[in-house]
Amino acid sequence: MHFKASTIFVTGGAGFIGSAVIRHLLQNTHARVVNIDKLTYAANLNSLPGTNENLNYAFEQQCICDGLGLRRLFEKYQPDAVMNLAAESHVDRSIDGPGEFIQTNIVGTFTLLQEALRHWRSLSPEKREQFRFLHISTDEVFGSLGDDGFFTEITAYAPNSPYSASKASSDHLVRAWHETYDLPTLITNCSNNYGPYHFPEKLIPHMIIKGLAGEPLPVYGDGKNIRDWLYVEDHAKALALVLAHGVVGETYNVGGRNERTNLHVVESICDLLDHVAPSATGARRHLMTFVADRPGHDRRYAIDASKLERELGWRAQENFESGIEKTVRWYVDEQFWWRAILERGYAAKRVGLNQ
Ligand code: DAU
Repeated sequence: MHFKASTIFVTGGAGFIGSAVIRHLLQNTHARVVNIDKLTYAANLNSLPGTNENLNYAFEQQCICDGLGLRRLFEKYQPDAVMNLAAESHVDRSIDGPGEFIQTNIVGTFTLLQEALRHWRSLSPEKREQFRFLHISTDEVFGSLGDDGFFTEITAYAPNSPYSASKASSDHLVRAWHETYDLPTLITNCSNNYGPYHFPEKLIPHMIIKGLAGEPLPVYGDGKNIRDWLYVEDHAKALALVLAHGVVGETYNVGGRNERTNLHVVESICDLLDHVAPSATGARRHLMTFVADRPGHDRRYAIDASKLERELGWRAQENFESGIEKTVRWYVDEQFWWRAILERGYAAKRVGLNQ
């Protein structure tokens, strides 16, 4: 598909990855972007500075579980593509309250697929040929790796948390809507994202904010779990590439080739904070505290992104060292963004202990 003169629905566009996608599309393409977001606790329109004045941008507060509401938007905007980033995404929350994950991630994706299909069937043959439905998913659908190996596009699904099971389920629905109804779908599965505008429940922003406050830094279990870190702007570029040039019916893994233990991540944040925002009370590593492990905690994720690199020419531009430094500096400089979240009542407390 071509971005010029096209209209793209981005669901979850007020979320972390969705907002990065919208910023990327508005800055680098001529696409018209419609941000469809329910505005849950993790959504934040402050992550989209300058969009109100942008004639290529529209916002619609809309839940993807509401078929009639979605239908109204499909009729109003006649989109050429849908990028589905609307999701409940926090593993710890899914342990305490899986219901919302089943609703948004499974029922919401189903409802969006149905309305996209209805819209697609109403299009001219030329427009049908061009239409794309890109579903953004996670490497957590593949479960946990041992010491060796990588997730590829043909790794069997083995989700371990309510969150990852709900995303796995949504991936299967998207695949089925292509195989059964010919809806032109694509799926991406990404590793752990990080960068600016990340809601502070996730490891990296949580540690930065706690570190700045001089509070304990809670490391789950032994801290030796491994995640493969992907700078969010590299991810946004990958998604635009898959939308424009990906082969319909295919899935693409997106990962930064940046495996790090949680201990390494937290130590790096401590050292960067000590450098950028020194504390009178000394080195932040002393704040690191081992706490009870996450139930069902996946040990290691690692993505093989060679298909995306080989077939679409994508390359991550940030490595972990460059990305984490940018991220720490952003949180130090842009305190108004995350302090507003704390002021709205986000308590940054431990959840997901299954108690
Ligand atoms: O792999 C992609 C996934 O990455 C996405 O699909 C998820 O939506 C996203 O939340 C993320 O899942 P994780 O569970 O890996 O991310 P989280 O930031 O919650 O935790 C990262 C690691 O850090 C994990 O091993 C748990 C650990 N952790 C997390 C927090 C919040 C801690 O040790 N302490 C903490 O306070």
